[in-house]
Amino acid sequence: MYTQAMDIPGQHQAAVSVNLSPEEAKFEARIEADGRIEPQDWMPEAYRKTLVRQISQHAHSEIVGMLPEGNWISRAPSLKRKAILIAKVQDEGGHGLYLYSAAETLGTSRDEMIDALHSGKAKYSSIFNYPTLNWADVGVIGWLVDGAAIMNQIPLCRCSYGPYSRAMVRVCKEESFHQRQGYEALLVMMRGTEEQKQMVQDAVNRWWWKCLAMFGPPDADSPHSAQAMKWGIKRISNDELRQKFVDATVPQAKVLGVTLPDPNLKWNEERQHYDFGQIDWQEFWNTVQGNGPCNKERLATRVKAHNDGRWVREAAMAYAHKQAQRAHKEAA
Ligand SMILES: [Fe+2]
Ligand SMILES: [Fe+2]
Repeated sequence: MYTQAMDIPGQHQAAVSVNLSPEEAKFEARIEADGRIEPQDWMPEAYRKTLVRQISQHAHSEIVGMLPEGNWISRAPSLKRKAILIAKVQDEGGHGLYLYSAAETLGTSRDEMIDALHSGKAKYSSIFNYPTLNWADVGVIGWLVDGAAIMNQIPLCRCSYGPYSRAMVRVCKEESFHQRQGYEALLVMMRGTEEQKQMVQDAVNRWWWKCLAMFGPPDADSPHSAQAMKWGIKRISNDELRQKFVDATVPQAKVLGVTLPDPNLKWNEERQHYDFGQIDWQEFWNTVQGNGPCNKERLATRVKAHNDGRWVREAAMAYAHKQAQRAHKEAA
């Protein structure tokens, strides 16, 4: 998942159970019982808004996330790698479409969501605002970026909003393929020439810290996560997910033979977890605010693709209209 900035400010509510309306009480009881909220059910406006924001941000991230890797389709080193990469990038497009559909069930149109992305109002994951400089970046994105995405998304399969949780089940299965193909591509490179090994290490050095930031700000600086947890939208805190990711990744790095670029990364016997160094949050927020190396390029590419595809949408609408008229005539 790519939802690092999911919190909505100003939605802190103390649960005052005595004053609940019947519909509020029903909603609360369903959440309490770990049930699912469906599109036709009553839900608090703040819950709806939080979900629209999170799901649309997730959808945008999938679609923008196609760009850094799509860049390498024409330069993949073999037919096999090209086929895998095309399939992976296509999967990300599919994830975006499921997620836009899930967000539409909350009463927001796709046009509104796309406009918010194109105007810069809506965010997407900052990880995609960094360039892919060499072929090893494609492997590292699969291993670490998709790996972090899986860590984030597995708990979302149990999200309280039905359409989102169901979309996540399929998305997670595909993400797991993405992670493996990336890791396997890197394993092959690490068995190759000195230059190939250097490429992998260089890519790991550039992506590691950015992947740790994908889990979002530390829990202490993420006050709105509490409400998302209460609503069953978020199940595991940013810091816990980050720790799980580090713990899972260190042994994989050992097998691969790369060094994770953190001198403070050490096993802590007492905590039974790896300790790790400080994330540069200033750089993270700077990129979220639009000043990363590729923010402008990514957005401009999306806007251009949308404008270039206008004639296709118009032709499809005209054709659908014609078909509907024909069906109407035949029925008459
Ligand atoms: Fe995805
Ligand atoms: Fe993916």
